[in-house]
Amino acid sequence: MTNRKHLAALIGLGLSFAAMTSAQQALAQDAPVEEQVVNAMNKVFGVHAGFRANHAKGVVVEGKFKPSAEAAGLSKASLFSGAEIPVTVRFSDSTGVPNLPDGSDDANPHGMAVKFHLADGSDMDIVINSLKFFPVSTAAELRDLFLAIADSGPGAAKPTKIEQFIGSHPSVPAALGTIATPDSFASEAYFGVNAFVLVNKAGQKQAIRWQMLPEKIVHLDKAEAAKRGPDFLMTELPARLKQGPVAFRFMAQLAAAGDDTKDPAKPWPDDRKLVELGVLTIDKAVADSDAAQKKLLFLPGQLTDGVEASDDPMIDIRNGAYAISFSRRNP
Ligand code: HEM
Repeated sequence: MTNRKHLAALIGLGLSFAAMTSAQQALAQDAPVEEQVVNAMNKVFGVHAGFRANHAKGVVVEGKFKPSAEAAGLSKASLFSGAEIPVTVRFSDSTGVPNLPDGSDDANPHGMAVKFHLADGSDMDIVINSLKFFPVSTAAELRDLFLAIADSGPGAAKPTKIEQFIGSHPSVPAALGTIATPDSFASEAYFGVNAFVLVNKAGQKQAIRWQMLPEKIVHLDKAEAAKRGPDFLMTELPARLKQGPVAFRFMAQLAAAGDDTKDPAKPWPDDRKLVELGVLTIDKAVADSDAAQKKLLFLPGQLTDGVEASDDPMIDIRNGAYAISFSRRNP
């Protein structure tokens, strides 16, 4: 699990990196992998001051979470103890390009980041997306995927680096084949991909993957998505909330013995038990979403007693990468 000192050190690392010239940055080849992935994202998407290295375009909303009775049997976390608590949620488009049209194919997978504000004043976060499973198994492979994209621009020799990467990583086209543009952030399903572990009062542990399921999934075909306005997803949600709240069912997919908890590119069988952990209701847009999202830091490993990281090393590396990206947008 991430400790705060480690995060503070990473934020410091990001700040000193931001102050370096790009030539100095290029020389930082022995940088930790979390920093290398952020640099690879910056290489593909460009550096956009004040924005995230990935999932740069987003909208911030608020609501509440009411846990189910069944959740308390799986985890002793105060999150699941019964009381309703407030949440802050950020929905986003993929890529580090802040003015990407929402209907673009590149805006998939869409993201959902949730901050549960716990009764003791601390937060627990989940950071999930619309891919049912991840295109690659490790952070190093994600870095190499971005570097292959960066090296495959117009005029690149065939087969391009990205064609070669896809050829040797069949999970990339398989994962990307599971996504489509939704007609609203409220009509998409979001998946945690990395495994976590719930611990109950008796000390029993259960490996799970998060899911957030809408009342109804509505996907657009590519032609329809391309016709929508450039910011249709960002503007639709606040408009919809003026008419009434939207709800998601927060679910845990339970691993069975032998299911791989280390590899987010390996989905567990569809017949694994799904337990409803509670209902997340979004009822309000945040007045100045752009200012709010700049200052918000969601971390997939920001957990609470009763929820633990699994043995998937990607979780800790994600924490480091998100902290570095945060420090670069708030120098
Ligand atoms: C090694 C793997 C990964 C790395 C290095 C990585 C890196 C990043 C970085 C640097 C950001 C920007 C964070 C910020 O500036 O606050 C980001 C955002 C995001 N990532 Fe990842 N990511 C990884 C895997 C994943 C996975 C597995 C998912 C979903 C299941 C995911 C979903 C998201 C979402 C939804 C955001 C936007 C968060 C927000 O709204 O603040 N990422 N990622």
